[in-house]
Amino acid sequence: MEALLQQIEQYKQEIHNTPVNGTESLEVYRIRFLGTKGIVKNLFTEMRNVPADRKKEFGQILNEFKQLAETKYEEWKTQVEVQPDVIDTGFDLSLPGTEFPVGSRHPISLMRNRMIEIFQRLGFSVAEGPEIEDDWHNFTALNLPEHHPARDMQDTFYIQQQPDWLLRTHTSNIQIREMEKGKLPLRIVCPGRVYRNETISARSHCFFHQIEGLYIDEHVSFADLKQTLYYFVQEMYGKDIKVRFRPSYFPFTEPSAEMDISCLLCNGKGCSVCKKTGWLEILGCGMIHPKVLENCGIDSNKYSGFAFGMGIERPALLKYDIKDIRLFSENDARFLKQFTAAT
Ligand code: PHE
Repeated sequence: MEALLQQIEQYKQEIHNTPVNGTESLEVYRIRFLGTKGIVKNLFTEMRNVPADRKKEFGQILNEFKQLAETKYEEWKTQVEVQPDVIDTGFDLSLPGTEFPVGSRHPISLMRNRMIEIFQRLGFSVAEGPEIEDDWHNFTALNLPEHHPARDMQDTFYIQQQPDWLLRTHTSNIQIREMEKGKLPLRIVCPGRVYRNETISARSHCFFHQIEGLYIDEHVSFADLKQTLYYFVQEMYGKDIKVRFRPSYFPFTEPSAEMDISCLLCNGKGCSVCKKTGWLEILGCGMIHPKVLENCGIDSNKYSGFAFGMGIERPALLKYDIKDIRLFSENDARFLKQFTAAT
């Protein structure tokens, strides 16, 4: 009997010292103390070995012990039901978390995506190509042979170990690569980063972004070119926008033109942004020179096409009223987070 009482004291200590943590250990506890072969059950079977005069006393102690074991179980169970995670992990998962900044889309990406989306509606698909290019795809195939004076306008960076390689000056290299594949008709826009050996200032940089377009099929005319570009600027800047074409020169197009839009800030009245002209120059364009088609193995008697190319930085500067082109590449989070969040 004394030994039994001592044993009960030890179990009581054990119950008091058992930490309340987690559903699994709760079940282990239940089986150990309250299960069909558990401690409480066993102690009751010991009853028959207790002398008759002490049965009442023992019975009382046993009932108290049983109650203690059950109360602990109930308490534990309720706590596990209310906050299972707290108990399981030791962390309160209902607390607010640490916020991670979502980041935002770069203004150049926003502008590029908007431009692409408009051309996609007209059936253009997106093509991309390498930024490190060979002389053929950047210049020669585009009717800009070595020593051609027009190369001066597009001075770039050359790779010393490989003099034939350079950083592309325009994304027209993609157009050549697509034409060389030989699948016609071809209707693509080519976005990408380009490089020029320019002094870095608020207005120009040694790298910038372009989106060029190309359409080749039978009977493509200058009227198609005008209509495509007119649709583009109307979608981009609104129905009231006016356009004008000025004759220009590019070795890879004939005839060539520069397209202006009426100034977005003064609606053509003349302001400092349009240098009092009322017009903003936004792109170069023209009918693809037959020589370029032939260079890519396309029959220039059967096929004709138009091409255009424009920068992405300038429209972005205008749209977001940014005064310095260098901000685009400085990675200053205070600048970048002002734009639409990336979702
Ligand atoms: N590739 C020319 C440039 O970067 C732009 C252009 C493209 C002009 C297509 C006419 C036709 O300046």
